[in-house]
Amino acid sequence: MDNEKKYEAFIEKDKMAELGGGLDKLQKQRESGKMTARERIEVLLDKGTFVEFDKFVVHRCTNFGMDKTKIPGDGIVSGYGKIDGRLVYVYAYDFTVYGGSLSSTNAQKIVKVQSLALQNGAPIIALNDSGGARIQEGVESLTGYASIFYQNTMASGVVPQISAILGPCAGGACYSPALTDFIFMVRDKSHMFVTGPDVVKTVTHEEVNKEELGGAYTHSSKSGVTHFMGNSEEEVLMGIRELLSFLPSNNMEDAPIKASTDDIRREEESLQTVVPADPNMPYDIKDIIETVIDDHYFFEVMPHFAKNVVIGFARLGGRPVGIVANQPAYLAGVLDIDASDKAARFIRFCDCFNIPLVTFEDVPGFLPGCTQEHNGIIRHGAKIVYAYAEATVPKVTLITRKAYGGAYIVMSSKQTGADVNLAYPTAEIAVMGAEGAVNILYRHADANTKMQAIEDYKANFANPYKAAELGYIDEIILPKQTRYKLIQALEMAQNKNKSNPPKKHGNMPL
Ligand code: HXC
Repeated sequence: MDNEKKYEAFIEKDKMAELGGGLDKLQKQRESGKMTARERIEVLLDKGTFVEFDKFVVHRCTNFGMDKTKIPGDGIVSGYGKIDGRLVYVYAYDFTVYGGSLSSTNAQKIVKVQSLALQNGAPIIALNDSGGARIQEGVESLTGYASIFYQNTMASGVVPQISAILGPCAGGACYSPALTDFIFMVRDKSHMFVTGPDVVKTVTHEEVNKEELGGAYTHSSKSGVTHFMGNSEEEVLMGIRELLSFLPSNNMEDAPIKASTDDIRREEESLQTVVPADPNMPYDIKDIIETVIDDHYFFEVMPHFAKNVVIGFARLGGRPVGIVANQPAYLAGVLDIDASDKAARFIRFCDCFNIPLVTFEDVPGFLPGCTQEHNGIIRHGAKIVYAYAEATVPKVTLITRKAYGGAYIVMSSKQTGADVNLAYPTAEIAVMGAEGAVNILYRHADANTKMQAIEDYKANFANPYKAAELGYIDEIILPKQTRYKLIQALEMAQNKNKSNPPKKHGNMPL
């Protein structure tokens, strides 16, 4: 065969490999409202940048007549490419090949790109759409998962890892996404559960459909497994690109700066009236966040889960920051188990990847009650203080209103290592609210004495001045100055050089 023929034969083979499970199955995939694995990668990456590895890899299974059906690529499309000109690794399950099931061979393909991402310091993105372990392979497939989980764990905190769930993701297969930093799901099209509705019915007699059990809305609002929900695959894939724009490629880099025309000294009169004069009136903390950040652009993370705390990415003076804020508009911004978990994991993510933390604080305390206590608010709440205390990135805290008790301490207070602590004149920094305090101190007093005591307490304690006298608040600022004051503080702490005592790793309360 002359060379020309060899080239033609290769091109033919290459084209065949791109058909995955075949034209019929590709058609079926599209008819079910899903993109194919290659289409997904095409949409995700910068145009024409995808380089595919292991296109001709086939499985080695001989059970159930499998040796007669070897499909090039074996159900995983993997390789590298670029997003906004920056290197990323990617792998996508191809549902048209044995339902995207995991074989020992295609697991090795995944491990190859995971290892390269770790070695070369670039994010890795997994596009999941799979029936789980390849049943014909038995334990060999299971060990494939084990290798993937191991790589996920090794890469944790070194390179950003992002998972999109674009179809089924069941059983142990859920644990690779769970080990990554962020999970995206598509509304109505993707499902995650450790055991499906049939098993649930057999074991617990609960009747539940797969959407309710493990659909995108369930995991976004109830379980907190998912960080982002898209209405379509395109929305999810664009969301991944957007998320990466805030992140460095690895833990040795700073997050990319994005120049903005937004004046760093911009003052906002509207902020002067955001915090209501009545301390019991709610307001939306996002009104403050969105007013002060660059171009008012807030990329919120987990918007539907534990809404009493708000987390997300933004930029201040062009530099990405992680924002953590109590939300007085939801449960008065109280801290509970879910809010603690949500905030703590986000704080740790930002710290892993050198993203400064800005905390907006208006918190009446931890949520009381048997449900919270019995489900461990003590160990869950401890996660926030641990995460903040351990974080060595620049940390700036702004108290807008209430900062009471333990919740004041855990929300990035001075003594847990915050670099700059600011407060509005409306801040109330005390052990507890006036009514609660007086009910304890003046338990047996008459109504008039109590009323007077409440007024005295408010005058003496419901302000930022005691804390400022002690140096726990560095500066009291006017609300309209917030943007510039935050940028100044972040700039001041920009070259912070701090490390924690050497250790194998801490023993964070979990
Ligand atoms: C091999 C599989 C497969 C699997 C699906 N297929 N799952 N082949 N191993 N795990 C094949 C089907 O036989 C079918 O082949 C094709 O993929 C498409 O599947 P359909 O069932 O026709 O598609 P659909 O109706 O969309 O249903 C998708 C599904 C269902 C919900 C994922 O296929 C399903 O329930 N599969 C089994 C899921 C499962 O129990 N997996 C094992 C989990 S245990 P043909 O040739 O007909 O097109 C596990 C342990 C991991 O994963 C532990 C890690 C620690």
